[in-house]
Amino acid sequence: MKELTIVSKKVIKSCKPVLEQLYRKSKRIYIEIFFHEKDVEIDKIDKLGIDVSPLIKTGILRKVGDRIRANVQVFPLSGKFICTDFLFSIHRIRNGRFIRRRDDVWPILPYESPYLAKKAIVEDGDVVLDLATGSGIIALFTAEKAERVIATDINPKAIKYAKFNAILNNLEEKIEFKIGDLFEPVYGMKFDLIIFNGPTIAAPNVPEKYPLYCFGGPDGLQFTRRFIKEAPYHLTKKGKMQWLDPSIGSINEPESLKIIRKEWHDKNFKVIYIKRAGPDDLFKVIKYIDKRLWYEPINPNIKRPLWIKPITKEEYNNWISFLRRSGYTHIYAGMYKVYKDRKFKVIKTTDRAKLFKRMNYLSLNEYHFLSYSRILQLLKICESY
Ligand SMILES: C[S@@+](CC[C@H](N)C(=O)[O-])C[C@H]1O[C@@H](n2cnc3c(N)ncnc32)[C@H](O)[C@@H]1O
Repeated sequence: MKELTIVSKKVIKSCKPVLEQLYRKSKRIYIEIFFHEKDVEIDKIDKLGIDVSPLIKTGILRKVGDRIRANVQVFPLSGKFICTDFLFSIHRIRNGRFIRRRDDVWPILPYESPYLAKKAIVEDGDVVLDLATGSGIIALFTAEKAERVIATDINPKAIKYAKFNAILNNLEEKIEFKIGDLFEPVYGMKFDLIIFNGPTIAAPNVPEKYPLYCFGGPDGLQFTRRFIKEAPYHLTKKGKMQWLDPSIGSINEPESLKIIRKEWHDKNFKVIYIKRAGPDDLFKVIKYIDKRLWYEPINPNIKRPLWIKPITKEEYNNWISFLRRSGYTHIYAGMYKVYKDRKFKVIKTTDRAKLFKRMNYLSLNEYHFLSYSRILQLLKICESY
């Protein structure tokens, strides 16, 4: 078995104490397995007095000879354990490249989903919509306070993982899962909080070449634009909205804010934009990412692909011309919080956290290539959000 599988609830639930034990007894082994994707001798785990058979039954781990190997990343965060796909697997290499699949489930990056999940503006008794839930991390963190959470995603595999994680963390009674495009699965429903970290990467306009989790159209704003138009119809009287926003734009402001001003100027919304990083020079960031993806090998034969199929020179050049023609020059990293108010207003603030100052340059620091102590440090930062 190479994939997470919804076996019985009882077996899934029995995985949590095993993960807790392993994390408590040997963080080093935990990180070797679930971050570095190393094969670890079963003997070594036996010596800790831990029985990993539930992890094997559910497909979190698999046996490889006398060793075990992780099928999924299991991210520990504030007492929860969240299973998801690795950004890429060091055991899945074809023609000298790491393979990514269209339905891969989004990994948990330390500066991203944990930040939103832990800073969610959920209040006691809220009915929450977690759009584009992926592994379900945001749904899990909002479910504790919320009366009910609906989590949706276009990727059935993501919904399977999110369901698994809800059971694993004993939150399945609070969360309902639906598969579909944006608001389509929640037609006619209203929410006290709509929250998302969606597909928002600006990239050459060939959607079928990317995993479902990242492609946000050539300007990265395809999903956000639709959200801004449709979300107000899904809010209760006191309804709030919150999302992570890595928008491109001009030196003055992110394009997302321009769209908000145009679409919401006559709505009674207080829009708080929290700048986390940037504005960085868009073309320098693209150049940096290109270099990391294509020209900086991990070893002389293996390059790091961002996409599931290579982009042609023509597709790439068309995209760069589109960005230049549209006047996009900068890239931001921000978070929006939107509340109902007496009239429309925009408040801009800055998150003072220093660590991710150059966040737009961080995106490809994959765990496999980070040291044990760096990963511990990142986990600690996630706890501090
Ligand atoms: C960057 S991932 C984030 C996942 C999760 N929110 C998190 O923070 O870990 C974006 C997610 O959007 C989903 N997605 C992409 N297009 C979508 C659409 N049109 N409707 C709903 N979900 C979509 C993907 O399947 C993916 O799970």
